[in-house]
Amino acid sequence: MAEEAILGFLKNNDEIPHSGEFADAHDLDHEEVKNVIKSLQGFGYIEAKAVRKESWDLTDEGKKYAAEGSPEFHFFSAVPEEGTISIDDLRRILDPSVFQVGSTQAPKKQWVAMGNQVSRMVQHVEDTVKEMLLQMQQGQELDKESLKYLKNRKLIIPAKTWTGYSDVKKGPNYAPKRKILPSDLTRENLENWEELELKEYNFNAKGQPLNAGHLHPLLKVRKQFKDIFCQMGFEEMPTNNFVESSFWNFDALFQPQQHPARDSHDTFFLKAPSTTRELPEDYVERVKQVHESGGYGSRGYNYEWKREEANKNLLRTHTTAVSSRMLYALAKGPFTPKKYFSIDRVFRNEAVDRTHLAEFHQVEGLICDRGLTLGDLIGVLQEFFSRLGMSKIRFKPTYNPYTEPSMEISGYDEAKGEWLEIGNSGIFRPEMLQPMGLPDDVRVIAWGLSLERPTMILYKTENIRELFGHKVQLKKIKESRMCRIGIESA
Ligand code: PHE
Repeated sequence: MAEEAILGFLKNNDEIPHSGEFADAHDLDHEEVKNVIKSLQGFGYIEAKAVRKESWDLTDEGKKYAAEGSPEFHFFSAVPEEGTISIDDLRRILDPSVFQVGSTQAPKKQWVAMGNQVSRMVQHVEDTVKEMLLQMQQGQELDKESLKYLKNRKLIIPAKTWTGYSDVKKGPNYAPKRKILPSDLTRENLENWEELELKEYNFNAKGQPLNAGHLHPLLKVRKQFKDIFCQMGFEEMPTNNFVESSFWNFDALFQPQQHPARDSHDTFFLKAPSTTRELPEDYVERVKQVHESGGYGSRGYNYEWKREEANKNLLRTHTTAVSSRMLYALAKGPFTPKKYFSIDRVFRNEAVDRTHLAEFHQVEGLICDRGLTLGDLIGVLQEFFSRLGMSKIRFKPTYNPYTEPSMEISGYDEAKGEWLEIGNSGIFRPEMLQPMGLPDDVRVIAWGLSLERPTMILYKTENIRELFGHKVQLKKIKESRMCRIGIESA
């Protein structure tokens, strides 16, 4: 409708001076006229000038002055042409609001001289305020200065801004009717290829958002953890075996066979294959020894160590099982210091609730070198966690069968104003390291934490089931922001 009207009108006329008037005259909606002008202009059918006009409404006071004249004019008129009048008399004869405004505005305009007695300074004045207001009421435009003046005196207030077009004329591609050009090559329009005119490419148009894959928040956080470890010079351990023997998961770590964690209430044991195929026999012998009767300055646990218990297959309960394999492998060659890390899944037969599942990802780091101390462990943890954005951490003594001393790590959550338990750490016991064959001055400092916990905090997840398992919503994954750990604090 509007398009035909505009293109048709320009066929016989030079220009449309004002889009608003044009819309009124042709009984069209001005918004639609504007949209059509914009689009036709884009295709070069027409040219037009965008116009933006502020409009104003008169305030009640403004309306009053427009009808009755300004207070300063009334004030002036009440002063005799010759001689003086006392200010008290003026106050008496004038309306209080007229007196109040008039007595400041009239002297300001140098119409009257004020004292206890008031006299005229000029004989004739023009009520410009009233005139300006009348002009505005008639829809005439005022200059900027006048508008500012009236606005400051609170006689007018801004109303809706008017936008439209003026000087609408034919453009370089003018035609009385818009041609809809094809944008695709189809069989039909190829049949007519000689006359085929395609729509031009719009290189400025934004493309469709790509429906590509999206990383899960756990993977995003894992990547950042990985980067931090790599920046600190750590190598990744191979963690591609969820199934582990009790030997590597517990025995090698000097965890006694009657330890409650080795119960099926805490650990998932495998039915098939229920036992491991092979273990390094000479090392198994040394582990048995250290459990039963100690050595390396230890008294051991004083119980009968059973091979069958060590053979049982399970789903690894911690990635420290991988650390024990790696340290054993390291002990075989001439000693070299190492920094290892891993981030992978572990399994525990736990009651499932809002924050716990039977599986989670463990982040594990360890440093193996001669003469390391508890001070090294504290320093490394401080560095590691500050790179994660947690610079305020503290430690509490705790117990692990494989570390001595052991420390629980808490971090201060600045946003919540509370301490959160964030990890566990310690120095691996000689009863674990020496049977492997590591030199006796070699110390290993190590720590572990879960990947889920920081991810839940970072991605504001209240229930772990929103993060892991069949209740995960793909939409949430798609929309989850990038992980900025280790970026902001770098
Ligand atoms: N394996 C421990 C856990 O499951 C973490 C840990 C790793 C503790 C290394 C001390 C040293 O919590």
